[in-house]
Amino acid sequence: MSEPIPAVSQGDTNPIPRHIAIVMDGNGRWAHERGLPRTEGHRAGARRVKEIARTCMDIGVSYLTIYAFSKENWKRPRAEINTIMKLTDFFYRREFRELRNEGVYFVHLGDRRGLPRSVEKVLDSIERDNTEKRNLVLSIAFNYSGRSEIVRAARLVAEEAARGAVRLQDITEEYVGRHLYTSDIPDVDLFIRTGGEMRLSNFLLWQIAYAEIWVTDTLWPDFTGEVLKRAIDDFGKRERRFGGV
Ligand code: IPE
Ligand code: IPE
Ligand code: MG
Repeated sequence: MSEPIPAVSQGDTNPIPRHIAIVMDGNGRWAHERGLPRTEGHRAGARRVKEIARTCMDIGVSYLTIYAFSKENWKRPRAEINTIMKLTDFFYRREFRELRNEGVYFVHLGDRRGLPRSVEKVLDSIERDNTEKRNLVLSIAFNYSGRSEIVRAARLVAEEAARGAVRLQDITEEYVGRHLYTSDIPDVDLFIRTGGEMRLSNFLLWQIAYAEIWVTDTLWPDFTGEVLKRAIDDFGKRERRFGGV
């Protein structure tokens, strides 16, 4: 008898999402509204992460994934990119160390290749400083592309198949999922986008298969723990059917 087709992993039906993913959009518009350069919007945005991570821990969310820099964002002006790259160091020295002491475990999602050496060093430092405590797993998508992530997984799986390490019938959804950056992280339950755009922008394409989507016009630097709680309240009222009735 042939093997059953594996079910799509079904996330969590708890009213509190286990995994929240956020497209942190709107930094540029936030700055523009104030007559400031876009870079100031990114600075204000970086300072918001701490409160949101803490709110997740207060509420009992176990995984928070934030989109900080996409592979497509390399199209932006040099000065803007430089500011974003430098903000990784600010995040590490000022924000991450505090969060780590509160039990936040950091994961990087994305391609290290192509990042400046200074950013690679920051990523190394953060990974080295991680402790065993995992009140919240905070994944930061940086130099990330959902399609690239899937291509990378396909290559890893193909390489295993080519050397006979896996049989074709054993390449299941679960097996492919283990070759993504998020191998130890469950699927997304709640997908939030700030800044009002109704699009995915190449974020976590595989992992959001059955995520609930929540979009707010609030710009990321204005996104507070209270707004997050509203999103979670709305999530709790949704009926997730996962294709059933
Ligand atoms: C999101 O804010 C941050 C990054 C993409 C790095 P934007 O910079 O895209 O802000 P808007 O969309 O121009 O307002
Ligand atoms: C998505 O925002 C990427 C991040 C938040 C890091 P963008 O501003 O880059 O997305 P588009 O260009 O509006 O689709
Ligand atoms: Mg944007």
